[in-house]
Amino acid sequence: MEANIPEPDAVNMGTALYDRAMNLSLATTPEEFHGLALAAIDLIAHYYRNLSDMPVMPATTAVEVRQSLYEALPEEAGIPSEILKTVQDVIYPLCRHNGHPRFFGYISSPGSAATAVGELLAAALNANVTSWRSAPAAAELEHLVLDWLKGMIGYDLESGGLLVSGGSMANFAALATARTYVEETLAPKLSPDKRPALRIYVSEEGHFSIKKAAHLLGIGTANIQWIPTDAALRVNVVEMERRVKADREAGLTPMCIVANGGTTSTGAFDPIQELADIAERYGLWLHVDAAYGGFAALAPSAKHMFSGIERAASVSLDPHKWLYASVGCGCVLYRDAQVAARTFAEEIDYTRPIGLRGDEAFAFWEFGPELSRPFRALPLWLQLKLYGARSLSAAIENNITCARYFGQLVEDSADLELLAPVGLSVFCFRFRPVDYRGDLDALNERILIILQRAGSSYLSNTRVRCKFGLRGCVLNYRTTTQDMERLLDDVRDAARAALEAESYSE
Ligand SMILES: Cc1ncc(COP(=O)(O)O)c(C=O)c1O
Repeated sequence: MEANIPEPDAVNMGTALYDRAMNLSLATTPEEFHGLALAAIDLIAHYYRNLSDMPVMPATTAVEVRQSLYEALPEEAGIPSEILKTVQDVIYPLCRHNGHPRFFGYISSPGSAATAVGELLAAALNANVTSWRSAPAAAELEHLVLDWLKGMIGYDLESGGLLVSGGSMANFAALATARTYVEETLAPKLSPDKRPALRIYVSEEGHFSIKKAAHLLGIGTANIQWIPTDAALRVNVVEMERRVKADREAGLTPMCIVANGGTTSTGAFDPIQELADIAERYGLWLHVDAAYGGFAALAPSAKHMFSGIERAASVSLDPHKWLYASVGCGCVLYRDAQVAARTFAEEIDYTRPIGLRGDEAFAFWEFGPELSRPFRALPLWLQLKLYGARSLSAAIENNITCARYFGQLVEDSADLELLAPVGLSVFCFRFRPVDYRGDLDALNERILIILQRAGSSYLSNTRVRCKFGLRGCVLNYRTTTQDMERLLDDVRDAARAALEAESYSE
């Protein structure tokens, strides 16, 4: 296979085929498509080959990027090889490389060869997966993939759900459904304007998409109770129950508990069983935001944390995080999908299925906010079919091992301080030289900027109990423990440079 990948100029191979047909028409012929696609595939193979040696983040500026790209709207068809060359020489290099083995920022999937091909295959079909009738195999494939996802985390196979754009949309859909449930069960007799405020309970470490959802749903961000956390940054369950009780006594309507299945900042995993007990005692909806941590259920060392997830009324999962899928693939699961249907279904004449019944009348738009939807299941299906759950599980376990290894390296270093226990695959730390009297937050901020600009490793930032932290998340099947050692060296180099710059400015 390797032998056919051209070096060094990746766009040559397919170019020969399609440059003869210089002006592609909109109705591109299959032969022209073949040449064009081959050239693009060559380019991608070239990218994958060089990825690990590229700077994680290009040293560039907005002006430089604009100058390389800006032009008037093309009126005429362009030359394919030239256009692909811009992708190869400008667009790819002038982006951050989330697939680089030492990219540790945020929570970003590296994607995979399988999902890249899956996106191409899905795009060519261009199915709009609104319902079964739109694309029967696409709809059934989504149901199948959803069943696989449910099985991975130990959720009820009878539950419903759908693929959505990401965790924010999944949380939004889940909270909208929770509101329906609570309005139907706890306050059905009151007209909406008389209903007491609905309350949401989530730890102070909860993701900001919960806040956005509360705002967009009209629940109001003031009605979120941000609950303090314990030493490991997991929610304080006793305080959670106290607040629920106090709200009820005050005449408010507790609506939903959100459990973090891996927080964004530190990877802390809330105790789901205990939160499920509270939800049960007070008749609340329990939503587990496992957008980040959900697929850690595949890792033997993390599986126990998922105990109780089967009791959740809804779950957010993001294949486009820890299942290494391409961006734009999230998932929301509802234990009782009919509550979601009562939230999202609309009887509209121009979409009503005619002549179809049962499974063939199934419409995804009845279970989430979107009508038009891309064929998200195909890249994900390809990912799972081509690699299999066993290799994904091994990669996830290895990510956890790498994060813990780095945590240990930090703990063994006198000039570094671990700011939180390593939660799943997230590590947070700061540089704290012995006898340093300056502002540690400012010093670490400078270290981060220098590290990111240097391009060998990439961390992002967070705040842990008011301290500025260097934060990394291992979410890449390419990352090894050697990369973690290299990261440590890169941090030390950046720290040295930051201290040196400080001594010059004094
Ligand atoms: C815990 C958690 N929930 C929700 C989200 C939002 O996910 P998305 O970026 O896919 O909208 C994130 C993103 O990092 C997250 O970490």
